[in-house]
Amino acid sequence: MYNTYEISPKIHWIGGNDRRLERFENMFPLPNGVVYNSYLILDEKTAIIDTVDASISALYLENITHVLGTRQLDYLIINHMEPDHCANIEEIVRRYPEVKVVGNQKTFQFMKQYYSLDMSSNYLEVAEGSELSLGRHILRFYLAPMVHWPEVMFTYEVSNGILFSADAFGSFGAIAGNLFADEVEYDNQFLDEARRYYANIVGRYGSQVQAVFKKLADQKFNMICSLHGLLWRKDDVSYIMDKYDKWSRYVPEKKGVVLAYASMYGNTENVMNALATKLSKRGIKDLRMYDVSKTHPSYIISDIFKYSNIVFGSPTYNMHLYFVMDSLLRELAVLGIKNRKVTLIGNHTWASAAVKGMTELLDTMKDMEIVGTPHDIKSTMKPEQEPDLEEIADAIYRSLME
Ligand code: FEO
Repeated sequence: MYNTYEISPKIHWIGGNDRRLERFENMFPLPNGVVYNSYLILDEKTAIIDTVDASISALYLENITHVLGTRQLDYLIINHMEPDHCANIEEIVRRYPEVKVVGNQKTFQFMKQYYSLDMSSNYLEVAEGSELSLGRHILRFYLAPMVHWPEVMFTYEVSNGILFSADAFGSFGAIAGNLFADEVEYDNQFLDEARRYYANIVGRYGSQVQAVFKKLADQKFNMICSLHGLLWRKDDVSYIMDKYDKWSRYVPEKKGVVLAYASMYGNTENVMNALATKLSKRGIKDLRMYDVSKTHPSYIISDIFKYSNIVFGSPTYNMHLYFVMDSLLRELAVLGIKNRKVTLIGNHTWASAAVKGMTELLDTMKDMEIVGTPHDIKSTMKPEQEPDLEEIADAIYRSLME
Protein backbone atom coordinates (compact mmCIF):
# COMPACT_ATOMS: atom_id res chain seq x y z
CA MET A 1 0.00 0.00 0.00
CA TYR A 2 1.09 3.57 -0.67
CA ASN A 3 2.76 5.51 2.11
CA THR A 4 3.00 9.29 1.63
CA TYR A 5 3.12 12.43 3.76
CA GLU A 6 2.21 16.06 2.96
CA ILE A 7 5.22 17.92 4.35
CA SER A 8 4.06 21.40 3.26
CA PRO A 9 0.84 22.46 1.52
CA LYS A 10 0.79 20.61 -1.83
CA ILE A 11 4.27 19.15 -1.33
CA HIS A 12 4.22 15.42 -0.63
CA TRP A 13 6.97 13.07 0.52
CA ILE A 14 6.72 9.97 -1.66
CA GLY A 15 9.89 8.11 -0.62
CA GLY A 16 10.41 4.85 1.23
CA ASN A 17 12.66 2.82 3.52
CA ASP A 18 14.93 -0.11 2.81
CA ARG A 19 15.84 -2.07 5.96
CA ARG A 20 17.00 -5.12 4.01
CA LEU A 21 20.02 -3.62 2.27
CA GLU A 22 23.17 -4.80 4.06
CA ARG A 23 25.56 -2.17 2.75
CA PHE A 24 25.10 1.26 1.19
CA GLU A 25 27.00 1.42 -2.12
CA ASN A 26 27.89 -2.19 -1.23
CA MET A 27 30.49 -0.84 1.20
CA PHE A 28 28.96 0.85 4.23
CA PRO A 29 27.02 -1.25 6.79
CA LEU A 30 23.41 -0.25 7.32
CA PRO A 31 22.41 -1.62 10.73
CA ASN A 32 19.31 0.61 10.69
CA GLY A 33 18.60 0.59 6.95
CA VAL A 34 18.30 3.69 4.81
CA VAL A 35 15.51 5.93 3.51
CA TYR A 36 15.27 7.23 -0.05
CA ASN A 37 13.38 10.51 -0.11
CA SER A 38 11.47 11.83 -3.10
CA TYR A 39 8.94 14.65 -3.33
CA LEU A 40 5.92 15.47 -5.44
CA ILE A 41 4.52 18.99 -5.81
CA LEU A 42 0.90 19.49 -6.88
CA ASP A 43 0.31 22.94 -8.36
CA GLU A 44 -1.00 24.20 -11.70
CA LYS A 45 1.84 22.06 -12.94
CA THR A 46 3.02 18.91 -11.19
CA ALA A 47 6.62 18.01 -10.44
CA ILE A 48 8.56 15.17 -8.84
CA ILE A 49 11.92 15.95 -7.30
CA ASP A 50 14.25 12.97 -7.71
CA THR A 51 13.28 9.31 -7.72
CA VAL A 52 14.40 6.42 -5.48
CA ASP A 53 16.42 3.21 -5.49
CA ALA A 54 15.26 0.23 -7.56
CA SER A 55 14.69 -1.80 -4.36
CA ILE A 56 11.56 0.20 -3.50
CA SER A 57 10.27 0.94 -7.01
CA ALA A 58 6.94 -0.86 -6.58
CA LEU A 59 5.98 1.18 -3.51
CA TYR A 60 7.35 4.34 -5.08
CA LEU A 61 5.27 4.05 -8.24
CA GLU A 62 2.19 3.37 -6.09
CA ASN A 63 2.99 6.51 -4.05
CA ILE A 64 3.13 8.58 -7.23
CA THR A 65 -0.18 7.23 -8.49
CA HIS A 66 -1.79 7.84 -5.12
CA VAL A 67 -0.72 11.50 -4.89
CA LEU A 68 -1.01 12.36 -8.57
CA GLY A 69 -4.34 10.61 -9.12
CA THR A 70 -5.50 11.17 -12.68
CA ARG A 71 -3.30 14.22 -13.23
CA GLN A 72 -0.41 14.21 -15.63
CA LEU A 73 3.15 14.59 -14.45
CA ASP A 74 4.63 17.74 -15.97
CA TYR A 75 8.18 17.76 -14.60
CA LEU A 76 10.67 15.27 -13.19
CA ILE A 77 13.54 17.18 -11.59
CA ILE A 78 16.81 15.34 -11.27
CA ASN A 79 19.08 16.77 -8.61
CA HIS A 80 21.32 13.69 -8.55
CA MET A 81 21.98 10.86 -10.99
CA GLU A 82 23.43 8.26 -8.61
CA PRO A 83 21.41 5.05 -9.06
CA ASP A 84 20.02 5.11 -5.50
CA HIS A 85 17.97 8.09 -6.73
CA CYS A 86 17.76 7.82 -10.49
CA ALA A 87 16.59 4.21 -10.82
CA ASN A 88 13.02 5.08 -11.76
CA ILE A 89 13.52 7.81 -14.35
CA GLU A 90 13.02 5.54 -17.35
CA GLU A 91 9.87 3.98 -15.90
CA ILE A 92 8.39 7.41 -15.12
CA VAL A 93 9.06 8.58 -18.67
CA ARG A 94 7.36 5.44 -20.02
CA ARG A 95 4.32 6.10 -17.81
CA TYR A 96 4.20 9.86 -18.42
CA PRO A 97 5.68 10.26 -21.92
CA GLU A 98 4.98 14.02 -22.00
CA VAL A 99 6.97 14.68 -18.80
CA LYS A 100 9.83 17.18 -19.02
CA VAL A 101 12.93 15.78 -17.35
CA VAL A 102 14.74 18.70 -15.74
CA GLY A 103 18.50 18.60 -15.33
CA ASN A 104 21.72 20.29 -16.29
CA GLN A 105 24.13 19.45 -19.06
CA LYS A 106 25.99 16.91 -16.89
CA THR A 107 22.71 15.31 -15.75
CA PHE A 108 21.84 14.44 -19.32
CA GLN A 109 25.32 13.18 -20.07
CA PHE A 110 24.98 10.69 -17.21
CA MET A 111 21.40 9.86 -18.17
CA LYS A 112 22.62 8.68 -21.56
CA GLN A 113 25.30 6.59 -19.85
CA TYR A 114 22.81 4.87 -17.53
CA TYR A 115 19.81 4.45 -19.81
CA SER A 116 19.35 2.98 -23.28
CA LEU A 117 15.92 4.57 -23.82
CA ASP A 118 16.38 7.79 -25.76
CA MET A 119 14.67 10.40 -23.56
CA SER A 120 16.29 13.42 -25.21
CA SER A 121 12.95 14.82 -26.43
CA ASN A 122 11.92 15.01 -22.74
CA TYR A 123 14.97 16.97 -21.62
CA LEU A 124 14.58 20.47 -20.18
CA GLU A 125 18.05 21.79 -19.51
CA VAL A 126 18.53 24.31 -16.70
CA ALA A 127 21.59 26.22 -15.53
CA GLU A 128 22.72 28.10 -12.43
CA GLY A 129 19.86 30.32 -11.22
CA SER A 130 17.27 29.09 -13.75
CA GLU A 131 13.70 29.23 -12.47
CA LEU A 132 10.70 27.07 -13.20
CA SER A 133 7.18 28.13 -12.24
CA LEU A 134 4.68 25.47 -11.28
CA GLY A 135 2.03 28.11 -10.41
CA ARG A 136 2.29 29.14 -6.77
CA HIS A 137 5.53 27.25 -6.36
CA ILE A 138 8.62 28.66 -8.03
CA LEU A 139 11.65 26.41 -8.28
CA ARG A 140 15.15 27.82 -8.63
CA PHE A 141 18.15 25.66 -9.44
CA TYR A 142 21.62 25.96 -7.96
CA LEU A 143 24.45 23.83 -9.30
CA ALA A 144 26.26 21.98 -6.50
CA PRO A 145 29.01 20.13 -8.35
CA MET A 146 30.73 17.38 -6.35
CA VAL A 147 28.36 17.60 -3.43
CA HIS A 148 28.66 14.15 -4.13
CA TRP A 149 28.78 13.88 -7.94
CA PRO A 150 29.53 16.45 -10.66
CA GLU A 151 25.96 16.80 -11.93
CA VAL A 152 24.42 17.49 -8.50
CA MET A 153 22.17 20.50 -8.17
CA PHE A 154 19.93 21.82 -5.42
CA THR A 155 16.35 22.87 -6.06
CA TYR A 156 15.12 25.80 -3.99
CA GLU A 157 11.39 26.29 -3.67
CA VAL A 158 11.28 30.07 -3.48
CA SER A 159 7.74 30.70 -2.20
CA ASN A 160 8.11 28.59 0.96
CA GLY A 161 11.90 28.64 1.38
CA ILE A 162 12.32 24.88 0.99
CA LEU A 163 15.67 23.51 -0.10
CA PHE A 164 15.76 20.14 -1.86
CA SER A 165 19.41 19.42 -1.19
CA ALA A 166 20.22 16.15 -2.98
CA ASP A 167 22.60 14.08 -0.78
CA ALA A 168 23.57 17.07 1.35
CA PHE A 169 22.23 16.92 4.93
CA GLY A 170 21.52 13.22 4.39
CA SER A 171 22.01 10.31 6.74
CA PHE A 172 22.12 6.56 6.97
CA GLY A 173 19.18 5.04 8.84
CA ALA A 174 15.60 4.29 7.90
CA ILE A 175 12.85 6.41 9.42
CA ALA A 176 9.93 5.22 11.53
CA GLY A 177 7.02 7.37 10.46
CA ASN A 178 8.46 10.57 11.93
CA LEU A 179 9.83 12.43 8.95
CA PHE A 180 11.20 15.49 10.71
CA ALA A 181 14.29 15.68 12.90
CA ASP A 182 12.29 17.61 15.52
CA GLU A 183 10.04 14.57 16.02
CA VAL A 184 12.82 12.21 17.17
CA GLU A 185 15.61 12.12 19.74
CA TYR A 186 18.00 13.16 17.02
CA ASP A 187 21.28 13.30 18.96
CA ASN A 188 20.69 9.85 20.44
CA GLN A 189 19.27 8.12 17.42
CA PHE A 190 20.51 9.80 14.23
CA LEU A 191 23.46 12.14 14.69
CA ASP A 192 26.15 9.43 14.61
CA GLU A 193 24.67 7.95 11.45
CA ALA A 194 24.38 11.39 9.84
CA ARG A 195 28.04 12.04 10.60
CA ARG A 196 29.05 8.59 9.32
CA TYR A 197 27.12 9.29 6.14
CA TYR A 198 28.71 12.71 5.70
CA ALA A 199 32.27 11.61 6.48
CA ASN A 200 32.24 8.59 4.21
CA ILE A 201 29.98 9.69 1.36
CA VAL A 202 30.48 13.46 1.07
CA GLY A 203 33.59 13.85 3.26
CA ARG A 204 36.03 14.29 0.38
CA TYR A 205 34.09 17.28 -0.94
CA GLY A 206 34.31 19.74 1.95
CA SER A 207 35.41 22.66 -0.23
CA GLN A 208 32.51 22.04 -2.63
CA VAL A 209 30.06 21.97 0.31
CA GLN A 210 31.52 25.28 1.49
CA ALA A 211 31.21 26.72 -2.03
CA VAL A 212 27.51 25.93 -2.23
CA PHE A 213 26.97 27.28 1.31
CA LYS A 214 28.45 30.60 0.15
CA LYS A 215 26.23 30.62 -2.89
CA LEU A 216 23.12 30.08 -0.75
CA ALA A 217 24.17 32.39 2.09
CA ASP A 218 21.44 34.97 1.37
CA GLN A 219 18.61 32.45 1.16
CA LYS A 220 16.28 31.70 4.02
CA PHE A 221 15.55 28.03 4.61
CA ASN A 222 12.30 27.10 6.32
CA MET A 223 12.82 23.48 5.45
CA ILE A 224 15.65 21.30 4.15
CA CYS A 225 14.71 18.10 2.35
CA SER A 226 17.58 15.74 1.66
CA LEU A 227 17.47 12.56 -0.39
CA HIS A 228 18.31 10.47 2.71
CA GLY A 229 17.42 10.76 6.36
CA LEU A 230 15.16 13.12 8.24
CA LEU A 231 13.89 16.49 7.06
CA TRP A 232 14.73 19.74 8.82
CA ARG A 233 12.40 22.64 9.52
CA LYS A 234 12.20 25.95 11.38
CA ASP A 235 14.88 26.54 14.04
CA ASP A 236 16.41 23.07 13.59
CA VAL A 237 17.70 24.03 10.15
CA SER A 238 20.55 25.96 11.77
CA TYR A 239 21.49 22.90 13.87
CA ILE A 240 22.28 20.71 10.85
CA MET A 241 23.77 23.64 8.91
CA ASP A 242 26.19 24.18 11.78
CA LYS A 243 27.18 20.49 11.80
CA TYR A 244 27.73 20.57 8.03
CA ASP A 245 29.77 23.73 8.30
CA LYS A 246 32.11 22.06 10.82
CA TRP A 247 32.33 18.75 8.97
CA SER A 248 33.01 20.41 5.62
CA ARG A 249 35.76 22.62 7.10
CA TYR A 250 37.24 19.52 8.81
CA VAL A 251 36.88 21.25 12.16
CA PRO A 252 36.49 18.76 15.04
CA GLU A 253 33.17 18.94 16.84
CA LYS A 254 34.80 18.03 20.09
CA LYS A 255 38.17 17.84 21.83
CA GLY A 256 38.76 14.17 22.48
CA VAL A 257 40.77 11.11 21.51
CA VAL A 258 40.05 8.27 19.10
CA LEU A 259 42.43 5.34 19.53
CA ALA A 260 42.52 3.10 16.45
CA TYR A 261 44.78 0.10 16.52
CA ALA A 262 45.70 -3.04 14.63
CA SER A 263 46.91 -5.96 16.69
CA MET A 264 47.64 -9.54 15.60
CA TYR A 265 48.15 -11.12 19.02
CA GLY A 266 47.02 -8.43 21.44
CA ASN A 267 50.38 -6.79 22.16
CA THR A 268 49.71 -3.52 20.35
CA GLU A 269 46.21 -3.59 21.83
CA ASN A 270 47.81 -3.88 25.27
CA VAL A 271 49.82 -0.69 24.69
CA MET A 272 46.73 1.16 23.49
CA ASN A 273 44.76 0.07 26.55
CA ALA A 274 47.61 1.16 28.82
CA LEU A 275 47.73 4.55 27.08
CA ALA A 276 43.95 4.95 27.27
CA THR A 277 44.07 4.31 31.02
CA LYS A 278 46.82 6.91 31.43
CA LEU A 279 44.70 9.41 29.49
CA SER A 280 41.69 8.61 31.62
CA LYS A 281 43.75 9.13 34.80
CA ARG A 282 44.59 12.60 33.47
CA GLY A 283 40.87 13.34 33.34
CA ILE A 284 40.29 12.84 29.62
CA LYS A 285 36.74 11.63 29.08
CA ASP A 286 34.76 10.03 26.27
CA LEU A 287 37.74 8.06 24.91
CA ARG A 288 36.96 5.97 21.83
CA MET A 289 38.93 2.85 20.90
CA TYR A 290 38.63 0.67 17.81
CA ASP A 291 40.30 -2.47 16.52
CA VAL A 292 40.64 -1.64 12.82
CA SER A 293 40.44 -5.32 11.90
CA LYS A 294 37.08 -5.63 13.59
CA THR A 295 35.21 -2.35 13.23
CA HIS A 296 34.16 -1.22 9.77
CA PRO A 297 36.32 1.77 8.81
CA SER A 298 33.27 3.95 8.19
CA TYR A 299 32.62 4.07 11.97
CA ILE A 300 36.23 4.91 12.79
CA ILE A 301 36.35 7.58 10.08
CA SER A 302 33.15 9.08 11.42
CA ASP A 303 34.67 9.46 14.90
CA ILE A 304 37.87 10.87 13.39
CA PHE A 305 35.69 13.57 11.80
CA LYS A 306 34.19 14.22 15.23
CA TYR A 307 37.23 14.36 17.53
CA SER A 308 40.40 16.44 17.62
CA ASN A 309 43.02 13.79 18.44
CA ILE A 310 43.80 10.37 17.06
CA VAL A 311 46.21 7.69 18.23
CA PHE A 312 47.09 5.14 15.56
CA GLY A 313 48.76 1.95 16.78
CA SER A 314 49.94 -0.71 14.38
CA PRO A 315 52.37 -3.59 13.98
CA THR A 316 54.70 -4.06 11.05
CA TYR A 317 53.55 -6.81 8.69
CA ASN A 318 55.65 -8.29 5.87
CA MET A 319 58.04 -5.39 6.41
CA HIS A 320 55.19 -3.03 5.60
CA LEU A 321 52.46 -1.27 7.54
CA TYR A 322 49.79 -3.76 8.64
CA PHE A 323 47.43 -3.88 5.67
CA VAL A 324 44.18 -2.96 7.44
CA MET A 325 45.78 0.11 9.04
CA ASP A 326 47.33 0.98 5.69
CA SER A 327 43.87 0.82 4.13
CA LEU A 328 42.28 2.99 6.83
CA LEU A 329 44.91 5.70 6.45
CA ARG A 330 44.63 5.66 2.66
CA GLU A 331 40.86 6.00 2.95
CA LEU A 332 41.29 8.98 5.28
CA ALA A 333 43.70 10.57 2.80
CA VAL A 334 41.20 10.14 -0.05
CA LEU A 335 38.48 11.68 2.11
CA GLY A 336 40.69 14.72 2.63
CA ILE A 337 40.74 14.62 6.42
CA LYS A 338 42.95 17.36 7.82
CA ASN A 339 43.53 19.48 10.87
CA ARG A 340 43.92 16.69 13.43
CA LYS A 341 46.48 15.93 16.13
CA VAL A 342 47.97 12.49 15.68
CA THR A 343 50.02 10.23 17.92
CA LEU A 344 51.75 7.14 16.51
CA ILE A 345 52.59 3.85 18.15
CA GLY A 346 54.27 1.04 16.23
CA ASN A 347 55.20 -2.53 17.00
CA HIS A 348 57.68 -4.88 15.34
CA THR A 349 59.64 -8.01 16.12
CA TRP A 350 62.57 -7.92 13.68
CA ALA A 351 62.03 -5.06 11.18
CA SER A 352 60.31 -1.76 11.84
CA ALA A 353 58.05 -0.39 9.10
CA ALA A 354 54.77 0.55 10.79
CA VAL A 355 55.70 3.99 12.15
CA LYS A 356 57.44 4.88 8.89
CA GLY A 357 54.42 3.69 6.88
CA MET A 358 51.93 5.63 9.01
CA THR A 359 54.13 8.75 8.89
CA GLU A 360 54.37 8.59 5.09
CA LEU A 361 50.60 8.30 4.73
CA LEU A 362 49.98 11.14 7.20
CA ASP A 363 52.39 13.27 5.19
CA THR A 364 49.93 13.05 2.29
CA MET A 365 47.28 14.78 4.45
CA LYS A 366 47.13 18.46 5.34
CA ASP A 367 47.57 20.03 8.77
CA MET A 368 48.14 16.79 10.65
CA GLU A 369 50.20 17.62 13.73
CA ILE A 370 52.21 14.83 15.34
CA VAL A 371 51.75 14.86 19.12
CA GLY A 372 54.38 13.12 21.26
CA THR A 373 57.35 11.18 19.98
CA PRO A 374 56.27 8.21 17.86
CA HIS A 375 56.82 5.14 19.95
CA ASP A 376 57.91 1.83 18.44
CA ILE A 377 57.83 -1.18 20.77
CA LYS A 378 59.55 -4.48 20.14
CA SER A 379 56.96 -7.28 20.27
CA THR A 380 55.64 -6.46 23.73
CA MET A 381 55.78 -3.41 25.93
CA LYS A 382 58.06 -3.73 28.95
CA PRO A 383 57.68 -1.90 32.29
CA GLU A 384 60.85 0.09 31.56
CA GLN A 385 59.04 1.66 28.58
CA GLU A 386 56.26 2.99 30.78
CA PRO A 387 57.88 6.44 31.14
CA ASP A 388 57.74 6.78 27.33
CA LEU A 389 54.00 6.08 27.45
CA GLU A 390 53.57 8.57 30.30
CA GLU A 391 55.28 11.19 28.16
CA ILE A 392 52.96 10.43 25.28
CA ALA A 393 49.93 10.70 27.58
CA ASP A 394 51.24 14.06 28.85
CA ALA A 395 51.71 15.32 25.29
CA ILE A 396 48.18 14.32 24.31
CA TYR A 397 46.80 15.92 27.46
CA ARG A 398 48.63 19.17 26.75
CA SER A 399 47.41 19.25 23.17
CA LEU A 400 43.83 18.83 24.37
CA MET A 401 44.25 21.73 26.78
CA GLU A 402 45.49 24.14 24.06
FE1 FEO B 1 22.32 9.01 -2.25
FE2 FEO B 1 25.09 10.23 -4.03
O1 FEO B 1 23.53 9.25 -3.68
